[in-house]
Amino acid sequence: MEKNKKKLWGGRFSKPTNSSVEHFTESLSVDIRLYKYDIKGSIAHAEMLAKTGIISRKDSARIIGGLKKIGADIEKCDFRFSVSDEDIHMAIERALTGKIGEAAKKLHTARSRNDQVALDMKMYLKDAAKQIISLIGVLQEKVAEKAYVYADTVFPGMTHMQLAMPVTFGHYLLSFIYMFERDKERMEGLFSRLDEMPLGSCALAGTSLPIDRDYVAKKLGFSKVSRNSMDAVADRDYIIEMLSAISLTGIHLSRLCEDMVFYSSSAVNIISLPEDFCTGSSMMPNKKNPDVAEIVRGKAGGMIGNLVSVLVTMKALPMTYNRDMQEDKKPLFDSIDTISSCLEIMAGLVRGIELNKKVLNELLGSNFGLLATDLAEYLVTKGVPFRDAHHIIGKMMLSEVASRNPLEITIEELRGFSDKFESDSLAVLDIKNSVANKKSQGGTAPVGVKKEIRKWLKKSG
Ligand code: ARG
Repeated sequence: MEKNKKKLWGGRFSKPTNSSVEHFTESLSVDIRLYKYDIKGSIAHAEMLAKTGIISRKDSARIIGGLKKIGADIEKCDFRFSVSDEDIHMAIERALTGKIGEAAKKLHTARSRNDQVALDMKMYLKDAAKQIISLIGVLQEKVAEKAYVYADTVFPGMTHMQLAMPVTFGHYLLSFIYMFERDKERMEGLFSRLDEMPLGSCALAGTSLPIDRDYVAKKLGFSKVSRNSMDAVADRDYIIEMLSAISLTGIHLSRLCEDMVFYSSSAVNIISLPEDFCTGSSMMPNKKNPDVAEIVRGKAGGMIGNLVSVLVTMKALPMTYNRDMQEDKKPLFDSIDTISSCLEIMAGLVRGIELNKKVLNELLGSNFGLLATDLAEYLVTKGVPFRDAHHIIGKMMLSEVASRNPLEITIEELRGFSDKFESDSLAVLDIKNSVANKKSQGGTAPVGVKKEIRKWLKKSG
């Protein structure tokens, strides 16, 4: 086992670390994915140390050369990690010492792992947020394409899982595009806080050395530096915000999936999911199961759990840095990976969705109730107060008429409920007119829906 005298912080220790403690405390197996950002941050730091005269230009150049080689080694999987390295920051510094010797000892001047890990995480999250935004964009595009195909197709809109009013399937699909748009906006909203550069806060108090934080910020593409060193090393808000934004996207996907499972269920069967996105049963030869939608629906639970895990870890933590905070990475990385794979798979699933027109039309034709609100609104246009109209149609729904195909109902039958029904009321019984008439802003009328779809298709190029 490696002795503590070899540990980068081993000076004040006379005993080696217990090997079970090394295994218990290491985060390298998780934070290895930060290596690129760690190296980039260290290069900018080394440049700044030379520019301010804190270290020599020669040492800085050797450090930078060594860091670049380490980056290439890790890339090629030609890098030996050791559990005694503790985390990615120490692993890289240890490797640098092996590569360039004495000069490596100067890299950690005016820096602590506390500000270093905050810097790495912010740089990583900027890229992760961009990737998630682009994956949401791809899914929106697939949803918009499908919505275009079904822009005029009447579909049963539901509330309380009961048939409510007709909508178009295009309108239904577009509703998810708006949810996803808010998800993108939430991700974009993170940037102003991710854009505060924490390096130079050091352990918690800043440094007596003449560092130039603005220089480092500029080099690393940050627009500002953090203003309080204690807050900068204690802050994990940006991780919680990211987990929260991801959870909401997960919730939106789970709602879409729940609908897909329900609408494609054997009992309802108004949509078909693509066969290559479904799986079979090991025992029942008849099954075509919507496992992809179910798994995405299930994964939302894990992502919410990851958010709660970091919230609880952070609750009541004393100022400033505490090692508890190392536990932020596993849930964060897991949520980022999970939402990325869910978004990708859903783009494929949505592309293959098809409506079962025959079953759908049977359902629409045998549920006169879907037109109840249209009939009430018709009576309103003939001067009947809405509450009275509601009552009249309510009575109609209780009668035998309600179980019939709306297209077979006669004007005489309607007049049996109110003499305000005139010959133009028959048009209300055509479900196509129901959706066409919903021209209020944001309503389901195909003219408006198509305009919206075109806007989204244009947006996604
Ligand atoms: N691996 C640590 C983390 O992820 C890095 C910071 C450690 N700082 C310390 N003083 N032990 O939080």
